Amino acid sequence: MSRREQLAELACGPPLVLPSLLLCDFTCLRQEMRRLEEAGVQALHLDVMDGQFVPNFTYGLTVVHAVRQVTSLPLDVHLMMVRPHAWIESFRQAGADAITVHIEAEPEPREVLAQIRSLGAMAGLALNPETPLSSVMPYLSDCDLVLVMSVQPGFGGQVFDGRALEKLRALRADVPAGVVLEVDGGVNEDNIEQCVQAGASWLVAGSAIFDREDYPHSFSRLSGQARRGMIAKTSPCSKLS
Ligand code: DX5
Ligand code: ZN
Repeated sequence: MSRREQLAELACGPPLVLPSLLLCDFTCLRQEMRRLEEAGVQALHLDVMDGQFVPNFTYGLTVVHAVRQVTSLPLDVHLMMVRPHAWIESFRQAGADAITVHIEAEPEPREVLAQIRSLGAMAGLALNPETPLSSVMPYLSDCDLVLVMSVQPGFGGQVFDGRALEKLRALRADVPAGVVLEVDGGVNEDNIEQCVQAGASWLVAGSAIFDREDYPHSFSRLSGQARRGMIAKTSPCSKLS
């Protein structure tokens, strides 16, 4: 099964916790990937920051490519950068299986979303806490996932912004079947069930995993809580059947 097919399957499965590779130990990437795989992780979230769109600079193509070399897990790449349309092909070549751009950086995202899809990757559209939901509504059928930010992008370890829950609830009603709702920032054991009940099926967790020494324990605890948050409707594909 291709990684793209793996992601499509994960998009229809139970809630998925994706560790965010921002706070992991980059000095031993290969071992970190083994530890996460052994913990049962099924996909990874990579935070690319350019120091312009957000006040932080993390990593780019070389790190995405390096992660690609040391794991076969699907890579969900979150581009927090200006003019992301100029880099889509490069990130796809580096190994990204899902590529998310911010509506604040691409106010007319239809073309860039189509380009991501044409390259065989999942196309994602992200919005910040203070960005109104109305900004992404015209593009819901152009993307495969909507990334609702529950922190101001730029850093891990921030406090969860509850406005994300309202956006998730509103999106859940309107989003076309099969489109994944993902939430990112400050997700932890105290709010993950609420995120799932509000409609999120992909949950990004950074400090809630990497700030604890025992990855398997923190990951399985979060995953168990996410499944407990699952309501009857649940999967974004349930409307498909
Ligand atoms: C923030 C990033 C998030 C962040 C998640 O700009 O997009 O993915 O790293 O880390 P926590 O879970 O610690 O907020
Ligand atoms: Zn992110």
